[in-house]
Formats: sequence, structure tokens, C-alpha cells
Amino acid sequence: MADTSKTATLTFGDKSIELPVLEGTAGPNVIDIRKLYGQGGVFTYDPGFTSTAACDSEITYIDGDEGILLHRGYPIDQLAEKSHFLEVCYLLLYGELPTGEQIEKFEHLVTNHTMIHEQMHYFFRGFRRDAHPMATMVGVVGAMSAFYHDSTDISDEHQREVASIRLIAKMPTIAAMAYKYSIGQPFVYPRNDLDYASNFLRMCFSVPAEEYQVNPILSRAMDRIFTLHADHEQNASTSTVRLASSSGANPFACIAAGIACLWGPAHGGANQACLEMLREIGTVDRIPEYIARAKDKNDPFRLMGFGHRVYKNFDPRATVMKKSADEVLELMGIENNPTLQVAKELERLALEDPYFAEKKLYPNVDFYSGIILDAMGFPTSMFTPIFALARTVGWISQWKEQISDPQLKIGRPRQLYQGPTQRDYVDVENR
Ligand code: SDX
Repeated sequence: MADTSKTATLTFGDKSIELPVLEGTAGPNVIDIRKLYGQGGVFTYDPGFTSTAACDSEITYIDGDEGILLHRGYPIDQLAEKSHFLEVCYLLLYGELPTGEQIEKFEHLVTNHTMIHEQMHYFFRGFRRDAHPMATMVGVVGAMSAFYHDSTDISDEHQREVASIRLIAKMPTIAAMAYKYSIGQPFVYPRNDLDYASNFLRMCFSVPAEEYQVNPILSRAMDRIFTLHADHEQNASTSTVRLASSSGANPFACIAAGIACLWGPAHGGANQACLEMLREIGTVDRIPEYIARAKDKNDPFRLMGFGHRVYKNFDPRATVMKKSADEVLELMGIENNPTLQVAKELERLALEDPYFAEKKLYPNVDFYSGIILDAMGFPTSMFTPIFALARTVGWISQWKEQISDPQLKIGRPRQLYQGPTQRDYVDVENR
């Protein structure tokens, strides 16, 4: 007799099916429905996967009600305060914080793989200069499978490791090149004497005509932004990477798929959309008009940077990002930045409004990030590429975890069919 404390009974029609209940180390239990169709001849129905666990994972845990985000058990606010991005990359990839020797080796490895194949420079030139940098990144990252054939065999653990390091190391170079190409400036090669964030800033903002000094305040803020975006459980783009990799596609193709999904304004594209919204609002006296629009069922307008599928409390990343925005703008002497003032007043008024309180809508990671990136000198079109750059380690960590899962099966959801039942072909003269 099954332990009923660990089974769920599903009764419908003349059927009664016992389904195992599986427990994790934290978070909700799951009802294992893998045998449901075979035993009951029915599917579950969950468009948008609001109540569906698609996998088990040991990488990131989110408690949406408590506003908790853990990477391999470590709280995001502690990592943002005390760690740095490449150390967080090591943690996500290998499961433990590195020793001094381990992080030194890892940083040396990443630093020495930041250049891309010279031939890929010509690939960029096929794009129009005004192409959105996300379009360029999707194309160039996908094209990496045409240049790095020696790390596309996913059955070879060494090749999986090489592809992982290549993607983490080269993404800043590709993102910076996409930016330079879009503004008609020459590409800037990475430098091995700079840390990850400083290298990215220099590749974006230096020009051959003069020396570029990295501002340590900005590189620390950039590094923290990378950390805050590194991974986030089974979000849409990570799920895209997992689904693509379930067919055995090579890692570069899978990450390109993740970049494409992240681009959407409901997901990673929200950071660009949020700053554009704050600029459109312009002044605090216009905020009530936009809050009214966000509440209007007949108006498709939503407050960008607000709300989340999982967080029904503050997104802990938004809290850290807001603090960082205050620090960076004050240190840059632009604490009276009008966009930041609008953002803070919008947050205050929205959180006081019953509509947002009842629906548990809070600022998410995208609400304040654009303000910092804008202050750093990035155009809004570079906000989502920066998100993609940082999330690459999360995609890769989840990809590696899935590939090494002995239960791996190709992802193939079913459907509730609502179309025409079978009917015979009608010749055109009889239609
Ligand atoms: C990211 O999943 C992740 O982890 C993603 C992410 C990551 O790190 O990978 O955290 C990154 O994508 C953050 C989210 C960025 N997107 C935005 O800021 C875009 C604006 N937000 C929304 O579009 C929305 O909140 C979503 C897409 C984020 C979540 O949508 P859900 O979970 O499907 O919720 P929903 O659309 O069903 O909304 C529930 C209710 C609805 O009202 P009712 O139909 O119940 O009356 O809340 C309303 C929505 O209309 N609502 C909003 C709103 N977000 C939800 N109303 C106004 N403004 C908003 N922003």
C-alpha cells in the first residue's frame, strides 16, 4: 500500500490514480504525473506553466512569497555585497564557493578566452548598423557553432566544459562589439590585465583616439549588475535553453535560443521598456495617469519593471539594485537624476495603490537596472544585451545540469486540441 502521505489520488470518471508526491529540500512538493497519461488517458493542462515543475535542479531557489533568492543556498544580497561575478559564476557552475587557488585558476581561464575568432568580425559586418544589438547577439552567438566545432559534442564532458568557458568569456566581447558596431566605432579587443566588468566597460567605451581609464565605482556597479542577473530558476529563457538542449542541440545554438527568448518585453526586454516608460512619464505629476492606465483592463499598458510570475513580494534583486542606483548616481553627482526621481515616486504611489497590493505587484529586477545603465552611458538598446551577458552563466549552468541528468528526455508537451475533427478533402470546384 503506497504511503498516502507521499501520494496523491486523482479520481475522475471511473478512474482513481495514485500519483507519487516528491519532496525537495525546500519549496513546494510536486505531484509526479509522468504515468498519468499511460494510466488515465488524460493530460494535465497548464498554459504558461503556472503550476508545473519541468525539472528538478540544485542551482537556484526562489521563495516568491518571502522574496528569497538563493544561488546554491547563498542569498543574493550576500553574494551581491561580498562576492564578485566570476566567483558567482564558479558557484553556479560547480556548486561550491571556490578556494583562493580555484578562483585564481578559473579567472585566468576565463580571462584568456575573451577574444573571438577574427573571422567572426566579418560576420558582424553583414548586419545593418542600426540593427538592435540583441539581433546581432542572437546571430553571432548562434554562429559560434560554425567557428568552434571542437566544443559542440555535448556527449564529451571536456567539450561541454570548453564551450561553457568560451561562452562566459566571450559574451562580453560579443556584446561590446554589437554596441560598437551599432554606433559606427571600431571594435575594441579585450585586455587580460583587466577584470571581467572593467574589460567590458573598456570594450564598450574606449576609443583609439585616447586612453580610457575604467572608473572603479562603475566597474564595481557593473559587476554587481552581472551578479544580480546571473540565474533565476526556470524562467522563460532558461526553460528555452533547456528545451533546445533536450534535443541534443549544441550549446551555442541553445544559448542563442535563450537570448532570443530573453529579448521579449515581458522578460529581459523589460529593462529597456522600463526606462523608455520612465522617460515617457517624464515628471512625477504625470505618474497618476500611467498608474490609471496600468490598472485599466481595456488598456494593454503595463508598468514595466513591475510584477513577477514568482515574486509576490519584493524581488530581492530590485532591493539591491535600488541601493546601487542611489550609490552610483550619488557618486557620479547626478543623484537628482529626474528619471530616478520618477522611478522612486512611481514605486511609492504604486505600492500604496490597492490594485498593486491586491495583485502583489512589486518592482522586479528590471525596474532600477536601466537607471544605473543609463547613468553609465549605455543606450537603452544595450540593456537587454547586458542582461543576456550576465544570464549566460545561468543558462550554461542549467544546461550542464540537464545534460548530465540520466533522466534526460526530449521535451515534448502535448495539447488540448480544439480544432476541426476529421473531415474529407473537397475539390475546389465543390467549395
Ligand atoms: C523578468 O521569470 C523570471 O524569473 C524572469 C526574471 C528573470 O530573472 O529571469 O525575473 C526576469 O522577466 C522580470 C519580469 C520583467 N517583465 C516586466 O517587468 C513586464 C511587466 N510585468 C508583467 O508583464 C508581468 O508582471 C509578468 C510578465 C512579469 C508576469 O506575468 P504573469 O505572472 O503571467 O502575471 P499575469 O500577467 O497573469 O498578471 C496577474 C495580474 C493580471 O491582472 P488580472 O488579469 O488578474 O486582472 O496582474 C496584472 C495582470 O494584468 N499585472 C499587471 C502587471 N503585471 C501583472 N498590471 C499592471 N502592470 C504590470 N506590470
